[in-house]
Amino acid sequence: MEQNTQISNKVKRLDLLNDLALQGGGADKLKKHKASGRLTARERIEILVDPGSFVETDRFVTHRCTEFEMQKNKPLGDGVITGYGRINGKLIFVYSQDFTVIGGSMSKTQANKICKIMDLALKNGAPIIGINDSGGARIQEGIESLAGYAELFTRNVMASGAVPQITAIMGPCAGGAVYSPSLTDFVFMVKNSSYMFVTGPEVIKTVTHEDVTKEDLGGASAHAQKSGVAHFACEDDKQTMLYIRELLNFLPSNNLDDAPILPNHDPIDRPVPKIESIIPDNPKKPYNMLEVIQEVVDEHYFLEVHKAWAANIIVGFARLNGRAVGLVANQPQVLAGCLDIDASRKAARFIRFCDSFNIPIVTFVDVPGFLPGTDQEWKGIITHGAKMIYAYAEASVPKVTVITRKAYGGAYIVMGSKLLRSDVNLAYPTAEIAVMGAEGAVNIIFREQINKASDPQQERAKLIQEYENKFSNPYVSAELGLSDEVIEPAMTRKRLIESLEMLKNKRDIMPPKKHGNIPL
Ligand code: HXC
Repeated sequence: MEQNTQISNKVKRLDLLNDLALQGGGADKLKKHKASGRLTARERIEILVDPGSFVETDRFVTHRCTEFEMQKNKPLGDGVITGYGRINGKLIFVYSQDFTVIGGSMSKTQANKICKIMDLALKNGAPIIGINDSGGARIQEGIESLAGYAELFTRNVMASGAVPQITAIMGPCAGGAVYSPSLTDFVFMVKNSSYMFVTGPEVIKTVTHEDVTKEDLGGASAHAQKSGVAHFACEDDKQTMLYIRELLNFLPSNNLDDAPILPNHDPIDRPVPKIESIIPDNPKKPYNMLEVIQEVVDEHYFLEVHKAWAANIIVGFARLNGRAVGLVANQPQVLAGCLDIDASRKAARFIRFCDSFNIPIVTFVDVPGFLPGTDQEWKGIITHGAKMIYAYAEASVPKVTVITRKAYGGAYIVMGSKLLRSDVNLAYPTAEIAVMGAEGAVNIIFREQINKASDPQQERAKLIQEYENKFSNPYVSAELGLSDEVIEPAMTRKRLIESLEMLKNKRDIMPPKKHGNIPL
């Protein structure tokens, strides 16, 4: 009896501590936080993981700082909730900063907590999801806190390419703190309640005299449209968590797992004749490549990544016969589908992500070339364009390319062409696989002949027609074996699935080396 009382007293103490930890920064702070439209750190985790699956670690950890009387303020958990749970049954590790506790600021203790679950994630081959809502380095701790960030960065790098890393920015994220998210694979932001910048509006005002608001400088829209730092800009906290769950469905748990396969109810031989009406007869007319993709993939479902940035190229995930695939496609509706610096950076990073995690790559090509201009040249389109070549050539996952229309010059080679170790190249009868468009070619090689002709206009038109007949088609490439098959567009889905099935056990290796030197 006496023993039972002792135990129940001890359990009471545990209950008290648990209650205290669950209060976070207390009622007032919580009220202020909620008033800003944000969910709490715990509510976010609840939406993120499967119901009842979250197991918290280090709930009672406290900081050890004694400067500025910090020993009088030692909240349990120290401003971050860490642990593991399941997303659609799959193990994930998560940390979620609690802004109500000392502004979610990063103490050395907080960093240790985060590092602990990152280490566990890496050892157990499971994705890491970071939910950031923090005033940055805990100012009272000074350099110790900075050291904590450095330990996080190092783990982000160690985990890169081994387990998927996803970050949600759901409040402030400023200064050096921005670099952990940007080392991860996907960054989510929430419109109007999150921001990221290296230096804030006040510093900018002092140094460059520019006036800019936090939202304009580093809000979700700025990073999703202008900088490309954010892959997804969501409407609110709940949507952000649900989108992460969605994304996780397409990813394996680690680099040793295969791309996930879900049961498929969409017929694998479903003809897709609609594509013939999507692609206009007139090669100068744009069309929406998204419609082509949606037509082909399982259940027409495509999860677009980086939707608002570099819209001249499309990247994202879908399924073909249940198997997750990464799609890369030129978008003729934007800049005629030309490749520019941002498009090259966007696609190259996506391709490398897919390759790291064994996700096959399907490419749709309609590309007239690289975007001309001094701006592009001086900002280094040469180096950035090379990233795509590097990424495609390096990727050892199954790679299948479909040329719908234009595939001109260097851009043709870059877009997953056969000679960049692509496995299957399919071309539509509408494909124009050539060194350049007929007009450009004729103007160069027949300049004198056109100038000397009695009717230069007519001569040019005749020569263009001849060039088109000879080169602006898929058959020269087919003769040379640079494409494997010319297919009716209606057969695209069937052929893609057959190709991926054939490539299921593909093994391809690079020469042994420490690592390559991608033109960064
Ligand atoms: C300690 C902090 C803190 C921090 C916020 N708080 N940031 N405490 N260290 N970095 C505390 C506040 O004192 C306050 O405590 C509580 O958190 C809530 O903050 P508020 O200011 O009331 O909230 P809000 O008005 O929403 O403003 C949020 C904010 C602001 C814009 C983030 O708090 C702010 O400017 N904080 C400092 C940001 C900063 O300079 N951080 C260091 C960046 S350098 P009380 O008790 O009053 O409620 C950095 C380097 C990383 O991070 C380097 C990595 C290599």
